[in-house]
Amino acid sequence: MDARQLKIEAARVALGRVENGMRLGIGTGSTADEFVRLLAEKVESGFEVKGVPTSERTAGLCVELGVPLFSLEELPELDLTIDGTDEVDAALRLIKGGGGALLREKIVAAASKRMIVIADESKVVDTLGAFALPIEINKFGMTATHRALDKAAVRLGLGGDINLRMDGTVPFETDGGHFIFDASFSLIPDAEALSDALHAIPGVVEHGMFLGVACEAIIAGPSGIKIMNNKGSQQI
Ligand code: 5RP
Repeated sequence: MDARQLKIEAARVALGRVENGMRLGIGTGSTADEFVRLLAEKVESGFEVKGVPTSERTAGLCVELGVPLFSLEELPELDLTIDGTDEVDAALRLIKGGGGALLREKIVAAASKRMIVIADESKVVDTLGAFALPIEINKFGMTATHRALDKAAVRLGLGGDINLRMDGTVPFETDGGHFIFDASFSLIPDAEALSDALHAIPGVVEHGMFLGVACEAIIAGPSGIKIMNNKGSQQI
């Protein structure tokens, strides 16, 4: 089974968690795209859902495939969000933002009663940090913010480069008009302490660690689907 097929399998199981009429946050990335494709097929056969996209990219795909969309202003409380992830650990802590949508993803997930993560098994880690942590920053004072990030990292004993994400020759810009620093810490032993330290820096808009947000992860591997939740993990 190739990587795309694994994403489709995880998305298929997640679709089974979506009930008719739900207000649904819809994530961003290649795994979330597979979920949108399956959801669109179901919508075409009469299933009703009110989608709230986490990015312009996802909004575009939903419009193209006929998934009904609403803004978070219209639906500020959601029943469920389904999204991909760059890393997930056994406590369902996540690193997200590889696709640059972390801020809207976090706002939408926080507005949802439940967030379910879908991924292939390559995303499961013992400790967060191998994936460079995306940190969304305000453009104003970005050099000062970079220095503040360096100092916070040193204080917490974290090494590695913190690089401005580029889109060709220009900085990558998020849907919210911000830039992203990718922090290659390699290992984040205390995600909560790092989260607090990042939130204390005024130029930081948000970071890509989702702590205490997801309630379930649906992980697809060659030997089947693994469900991770607060009771542990179980193969189905
Ligand atoms: C986008 C994200 C994505 O969910 C994350 O990058 C995973 O993407 P993919 O499913 O393509 O591996 O956080 O901001």
